[in-house]
Amino acid sequence: MAADLIIKSIGELATVASTSGVVKGDAMQNVLRIKDACIVISGEKIVEVGAEADLLPKYASSNCTVIDAQGKLVTAGLVDAHTHLVFDGNRANEFLMRCQGKTYTEIAEAGGGIVASMRATRGSTLERLVQLGQMRLQRMLEAGTTTCEVKTGYGLDIDSELRMLEAILELQKHSVMDIVPTFMPAHAVPPGENRERYVKHLIDDMLPQASRVVTASSSKTHVYVDVFCDRGYFTLADTEQIFAAAKKYGFRLKVHADEFVNLGASKLATTAGADSADHLLNISDDEIALMAKSETVAVLLPGTSFYLNLHEHARARTMIANGVAVALGSDFNPGSCHIFSLPLIWGLACLHLKLSVEEALTALTVNAAYAIGMGEKVGRLSAGYQADITMYDVGTLEEVPYNLGWNSVAQVIKKGRSVFKRS
Ligand code: NIG
Ligand code: FE
Repeated sequence: MAADLIIKSIGELATVASTSGVVKGDAMQNVLRIKDACIVISGEKIVEVGAEADLLPKYASSNCTVIDAQGKLVTAGLVDAHTHLVFDGNRANEFLMRCQGKTYTEIAEAGGGIVASMRATRGSTLERLVQLGQMRLQRMLEAGTTTCEVKTGYGLDIDSELRMLEAILELQKHSVMDIVPTFMPAHAVPPGENRERYVKHLIDDMLPQASRVVTASSSKTHVYVDVFCDRGYFTLADTEQIFAAAKKYGFRLKVHADEFVNLGASKLATTAGADSADHLLNISDDEIALMAKSETVAVLLPGTSFYLNLHEHARARTMIANGVAVALGSDFNPGSCHIFSLPLIWGLACLHLKLSVEEALTALTVNAAYAIGMGEKVGRLSAGYQADITMYDVGTLEEVPYNLGWNSVAQVIKKGRSVFKRS
């Protein structure tokens, strides 16, 4: 096959060793680290990856573009499995309240939290939500993210939730990134509303309308429904009902599980066939065993436990030791984690979740892609996968988390095209 693009002089190319499937438990450590490597691309896809000495003579031709990586590190484009990046307003005041010792729950009970962002987002327009989303996506791209999931959940009434969904579908249409939308009116019960009534309205009216919006937009990907199943938000019974209805309309499932208390949502995720259960700070040992046997990916969000100033973090080591497929996400949102940088999340995963640098790479690429139903397309530097590539201004994998807080990303390739280069 003729090459359109060759990336040569890669100091270290790091990618998950297996060439297909989600990666569970100990296998997360199995990362190929090839020195003096080269990637051969045709159109939007990778043709071959390997030692430069073998591949350059085979593919180099006069009509092929060559990018010189100048001895730097290259990985698959990073995948953010969990974001709430469409919202208006900000909650800097809440950050300062937490610095003074207030908890997330205390702040939410005092009128802050999701409801504060709901007010600002309800007052926004479709155009402005799209514009804010575009600006944030650009910053994420410059930090190495090439695929991301984006949730609604700051509208919490039918018109505002559908407007958020339209904004996400609009971003999907025009962004260079692959965007996977999630409809999440079950993010909080809006103030003054009765929970049971809200859940009924969500099932009877919001889901069918959302399904029509998705069909009318000809979404490029499947769409998820997510539920915040936790104390003060939605019960396990609510989550079960919402899941059953969502499936009927063809939505795929994910759940915010066990963030503050354990209501049984991670077990439900495995029996309902959810692609992911996210947060999991309070998951039980039995549920870890169930996750390991299931197709459900555990999405851990170390940025959130850090940003909320919690002393406890998710038990990633126990999950990996028991054979769970662990992924990472930013949880980028206006309140509990205003962090979008996956290189920073990488550092926090090593520091607080005790992941090795290789496990964190697996969690930020292949497993994050499977958590959002994109694992067959992105997440690996292997033949046949989309040519989504992040290049760093450092020489080895260890230096990415080590440079905590400095964005080492130098260049980003999406579908075989250079879409960002730091000047
Ligand atoms: O994932 N946990 C629920 N939802 C978000 C918080 C969103 C917010 O505070 O605005 C989260 O942490
Ligand atoms: Fe979240």
